[in-house]
Amino acid sequence: MAEHNVCPWWVGYLLASPIRKLLQNPADIIAPYIRGGMTVLEPGPGLGFFTLEIARRVGPSGHVIAVDSQPQMIEGLTRRARKAGLLDRIEARVVPTYSMALDDLEGTVDFTFAFAVVHEMPSAGRFFAEAARAMKHGARLLLAEPAGHVKEAEFREELEVAAESGLKIVDRPSSRRCITALLQRE
Ligand SMILES: C[S@@+](CC[C@H](N)C(=O)[O-])C[C@H]1O[C@@H](n2cnc3c(N)ncnc32)[C@H](O)[C@@H]1O
Repeated sequence: MAEHNVCPWWVGYLLASPIRKLLQNPADIIAPYIRGGMTVLEPGPGLGFFTLEIARRVGPSGHVIAVDSQPQMIEGLTRRARKAGLLDRIEARVVPTYSMALDDLEGTVDFTFAFAVVHEMPSAGRFFAEAARAMKHGARLLLAEPAGHVKEAEFREELEVAAESGLKIVDRPSSRRCITALLQRE
């Protein structure tokens, strides 16, 4: 798979800009997949452009675990979540780049939201193996990669690697400026 750099922490501010909602509305993107009370895993949340909306949607009985390798992202996300009054349902963790360190979540996650992150990971194989292990059987994962950065062939490689961890394609939803697939754990 092609090498991609990790997005610098200050780009997190651009990605969290309200103007982005004109192109990618987080409420519309997550609505088909997330319901009240769910436990949602969000790898690479950045400053939480999607996280806050996910937290609203899971409601007071739900839970979001957001894991990012850059402390600046997690600090900014935590600040924004506190300001929005949503911090009580978000667990924001700094993790090493080589592992999301999810052992404590084994078999508990209802939905994984992986938006514009897998191409930045050092190993897609390790990412999918760790995500699948954290997910319940039958739980789904939305994989979305930015069309400008990730070529179709590379996306197909990601899907092949995901299948090795028992994550099979159940849909190919369309999403503006992204290549997208909905996967399900066997
Ligand atoms: C392009 S940004 C996308 C942020 C957010 N998902 C969005 O769409 O607004 C990628 C994020 O993934 C994080 N990231 C990159 N490599 C990572 C890794 N190995 N483990 C955890 N997070 C990682 C980056 O720090 C950054 O916050």
